[in-house]
Amino acid sequence: MLPIYDQKSRIKLFVLAGALLIAAATVIYTSVLVQRLSEREQKQIALYAKAQRFIISIEEVDANTTFVFDEIINANTTIPIIFTDGEGNILDTKNLPLPNKATKQAKEEFLRREIAVMKSQHPPIVVKLSAGLLNYIYYKDSQLLTQLRTYPLVQLAVIGCLGVMAYFAFSYSRRAEQNRVWVGLAKETAHQLGTPLSSLMAWHTYLKESERFQHEPIVEELGKDVRRLEIITERFSNIGSVPVLKDENILQATKNAIAYLQSRVSKKVLFEIKTDLPTDTPARINVPLFDWVIENICKNAVDAMDGKGNITLHLRRPTKNKNLIALDITDTGKGIPKSKIETVFLPGFTTKKRGWGLGLALAKRIIENYHEGKLYVRWSEVGKGTTFRVVLKGE
Ligand SMILES: Nc1ncnc2c1ncn2[C@@H]1O[C@H](COP(=O)(O)OP(=O)(O)O)[C@@H](O)[C@H]1O
Ligand SMILES: [Mg+2]
Repeated sequence: MLPIYDQKSRIKLFVLAGALLIAAATVIYTSVLVQRLSEREQKQIALYAKAQRFIISIEEVDANTTFVFDEIINANTTIPIIFTDGEGNILDTKNLPLPNKATKQAKEEFLRREIAVMKSQHPPIVVKLSAGLLNYIYYKDSQLLTQLRTYPLVQLAVIGCLGVMAYFAFSYSRRAEQNRVWVGLAKETAHQLGTPLSSLMAWHTYLKESERFQHEPIVEELGKDVRRLEIITERFSNIGSVPVLKDENILQATKNAIAYLQSRVSKKVLFEIKTDLPTDTPARINVPLFDWVIENICKNAVDAMDGKGNITLHLRRPTKNKNLIALDITDTGKGIPKSKIETVFLPGFTTKKRGWGLGLALAKRIIENYHEGKLYVRWSEVGKGTTFRVVLKGE
């Protein structure tokens, strides 16, 4: 595993831990505030009840006692209150947004509902009247307190949304940048190869036609290498532009790709091509890029088997979507551990001494960005082998 991916997952963990810490701190801090405010409101309501009892107990309010009204009873402008008598008849309300134009019945219903809410929050305070009668003071948390209770949730939701948006914006711009690098580098490579290649081709034609060299076997070998260089240049130029997709006979295309490979790997690697489809089934592909994908996957398979084993290519319909074409490439190699099944597609990930870790990243780009297909590890077991699945569009 390359250190950058180790580091990346460590950074992710760090950020996640930090975010959780901030979230926890916010929740704890606000709940302390809520607790304090709630205690204060309880005290205020207790004082309020006391004041009510006092007012009831004195004969009449005079200059000495008006402060009870002014400073205590009327001072409560935040805590909603409903007064009832012993039978539950509503005597008075405070700090409740009574609907103005509503009918008497609607108001009554509204207040009954409020009483139910208040009951669920706090038991009512009982005020004993002189005649042995009882009054009840129902109350609930002030709006401020209610809002404060939900505040951390709202805040976390907003921060969460911002986080998600930032993440998508960031990963979008990162992907756009990666695209520019891939495409730019490919274009540049195709461009640079172009000039010496056309000169080589001209030289080859000259040799082929000259009396003197025509019969030398070397000229034919040279021709093969020139052809190979041409294919490489074609691949890069296709990656660097919008490649043209055509309906191609997929069985034939697969056979051609393998034929070339087979001559280049150890004889101990046996290729087999199977198909469940009619032999003339077409798929929409760009041949040079498709070849490149098959080559990358099969070369990895050869590496994973240490140059000895079977590689089976199996064409079939995926079970879910019958309009698509699946090509399963199975090797009998060392397999990929479960934890690395997705990581193998990241650019730079390699377990080889001389690997660049670009083969699968490129193959995935070619299939998913240029062919609107899918490339993934369908099955793998350490010590047994691996199946990569390429999903392509049919006609
Ligand atoms: N068929 C396979 N079996 C086991 N491991 C594989 C197979 N194909 C790919 N891998 C793993 O994925 C890694 C990345 O592959 P790739 O992107 O082609 O880069 P490279 O071949 O340069 O290492 C390989 O180093 C290997 O560990
Ligand atoms: Mg490779």
